[in-house]
Parts: sequence; C-alpha cells; structure tokens
Amino acid sequence: MAAKLFSPLRLRGLELKNRIVVSPMCEYSSQDGFANDWHLVHLGSRAVGGAGLIIFEATAVSPEGRITPDDLGIWKDEHIEMLKRITSFIESQGSVAGVQLAHAGRKASTSSPWKGGVKVPEDQGGWQTVAPSALPFSDAYPMPVALDEAGIQKVLDDFRAATKRCLQAGFKVIEIHAAHGYLLHEFFSPLSNQRTDQYGGSFENRIRLLLEVVAAVREIWPTDHPLFVRISATDWTEGGWSIEDSVALANVLKTKDVDLIDASTGGNVPNARIPVGPGYQVEFAARIRQETGIPTGAVGIITDAQQAETILENNQADLIIMAREFLRDPYFPLHAAQELGADVPWPVQYERAKRHK
Ligand SMILES: Cc1cc2nc3c(=O)[nH]c(=O)nc-3n(C[C@H](O)[C@H](O)[C@H](O)COP(=O)(O)O)c2cc1C
Repeated sequence: MAAKLFSPLRLRGLELKNRIVVSPMCEYSSQDGFANDWHLVHLGSRAVGGAGLIIFEATAVSPEGRITPDDLGIWKDEHIEMLKRITSFIESQGSVAGVQLAHAGRKASTSSPWKGGVKVPEDQGGWQTVAPSALPFSDAYPMPVALDEAGIQKVLDDFRAATKRCLQAGFKVIEIHAAHGYLLHEFFSPLSNQRTDQYGGSFENRIRLLLEVVAAVREIWPTDHPLFVRISATDWTEGGWSIEDSVALANVLKTKDVDLIDASTGGNVPNARIPVGPGYQVEFAARIRQETGIPTGAVGIITDAQQAETILENNQADLIIMAREFLRDPYFPLHAAQELGADVPWPVQYERAKRHK
C-alpha cells in the first residue's frame, strides 16, 4: 500500500506534496529581527531534503514580542526582502514556506540557550515585558506589566501588519503561536491570567485575545491560504489549561477559518511534570481531531518513518511535525521515502546518489 506519509494534503488552495513538516525552531541568530544566510542555508537544506512544509521559527510581530534579542522578526518592512529570498528558494524545491507568528509575552527579554537563557535587564538590551497579569513566569524571569486596552490593541495591530508582510514575503501558511507559555497561551490559562475584565475569568474571556488575533490575521490573509494555530493542549498542571479546554477551543477555531491545530503541550508553568517519550503528544492531536473533526498536526519525539506512518494510518493526525530529527538529518523525508518504499524525486543535482549502488 502506498505510504500515507508521502500522500499529498490539500488545505484550501494549497497542496502539500507530503505530510512531513519542519516544526518551527528558534535559531537565535538574528540581529534586529533580520533573517540572514544562516536561515537561508538552514531552511533551504530542509527544502532540498524533501519536507512538504517548512515553518519558520517563532517570528516576532514586535520587538517586545521576541523571546531574546536574537530572535527573527517581521515588525518592519525592511525584514521582508531576505525572508522573500528564502521563501522563493524553498518554493523552487517544491516545498512550501510557512511562518510562525509569535509574541513571547512574559517569557520575553531573556537570552538564548547558549547565552545562558537568563533574563536580560533593560540596561543590557532587554525590555519591559507584557502579559495578561503582572505575574512573572518564575523568579528567574522579568516582572511583566499587565496589558491595558491600548496594549491589547497594539498586539492586534502588530499581528495585522505582520500578516501583510507575510504575504509580501511569499509565505503560504501562517501558524499563530498560542503555545508554550507565550502571550496568547498566557491568556488561556488561569495560572497566568488573573484579569477581571473581558479577557479574564470565564473560558470565553480567556480565549478572546486569540480569537481577536485570528480575526485580525484573517482580515488580511487570503481565503485560499491556510491558517494554523499551535496550542499547548495541556499545562500538565492541576488547575491549568486542559485537553478538555483544548477540544472546546478547537471547536470554536474551526468556525473561525482556522484550518489545522498543531498540538504541542506545556511551557506555561515551570516544573510541570511532563511524561516525555516517543510520540508523547500524539494522543492530544488524536483527541482534538476525533472530537472536533478539525485537521491536526502531531509533534513531539517523532523520529522515524514507520512511527510517522503509523500515526497517519491510525488517523491520529493529518500532518507529522518534526523538530530535532530534522537537526540530525535534514534529508529525513528522502530517507523515510526509501524506508517506506515511496519513490519521491530527489533534486536533480543529487540524483546520482539516490541509489546506493
Ligand atoms: C532548537 C529548537 C527551537 C525551537 N523553537 C521553537 C519555536 O520557535 N516555536 C515553537 O513553537 N516551538 C519551538 N520548538 C519546539 C519544537 O517545534 C517541537 O515542538 C519540539 O522540539 C518537539 O518536537 P521534536 O521532539 O521533534 O523535537 C523548538 C525546539 C527546538 C529543538
């Protein structure tokens, strides 16, 4: 039987050539938000390697929305040119370029992992962070200020303006980052949202900002372009956001022109006990898909072809989203095709290496 992993997927006006997605991965390699040669080679290699969709790392919609001063951004028109060069190369390889639009909220103004991952004070290139409530992520993180009405309007304006730039930069998929304890996830979870206005309290109020962001993006994003949302399906913590909440949210999002839920978990609470292991988040993609009918992407320690194929065969997800395996092997899709007996084209320049002998 033909491998499902190498079957195309149609989403609105877009066809992905296979089900393999490069998960967004921060490179912490930008200055002033600009993409550069690193991003071209890093992302370009995965396009050469046969991925169907490549989602650029968390890309900040505003300078204060960066996790670190080294994050990629799309808050000014000057950012577009290099992004366009990279998306054009990706398309030339038969792949599709997507981007994860992000605002880091109270987890902003920190340093990259290899600079210690610690808070960056304002006098050393850091900035005042914002959040639903004035509650730091932990003692090691900056104290955020609670967003007021004008601050919330700015977030919406920033997502809207970023979406215009995404179109100009040639992206075909936008993924809104509403996971991992960043701004939008902070609003969902009662552990980080203690507001008493229309953005806090009830479930409807806590998901309001995400719905407003979705609407702002969809005002600009063409109807034939897919829109994904990455969520943390659970906080893995008593009293926090749960899989039941995620199912309820997905039921709303599918009526708001969102096309796929990328089901990650965690990140909003330090020291959550997460049972990390092969495919440990697949059950969340499966449950959201089964209970709401919205397409999902499975992510988290998916590292081999047969494992990925089985997830699709079991109807647990529509896309297989992979991060670290792609750092070990940029050509994972080409290797997976050989393993599953699917004949996929290699770049003509590499064809002489397609057969072992
Ligand atoms: C280097 C690195 C950077 C990451 N950056 C992001 C990011 O920008 N946005 C995001 O949503 N997740 C990010 N993640 C999480 C991955 O997208 C993915 O969800 C996670 O690594 C689990 O998948 P894996 O087991 O295939 O690595 C990052 C992970 C790694 C390893």
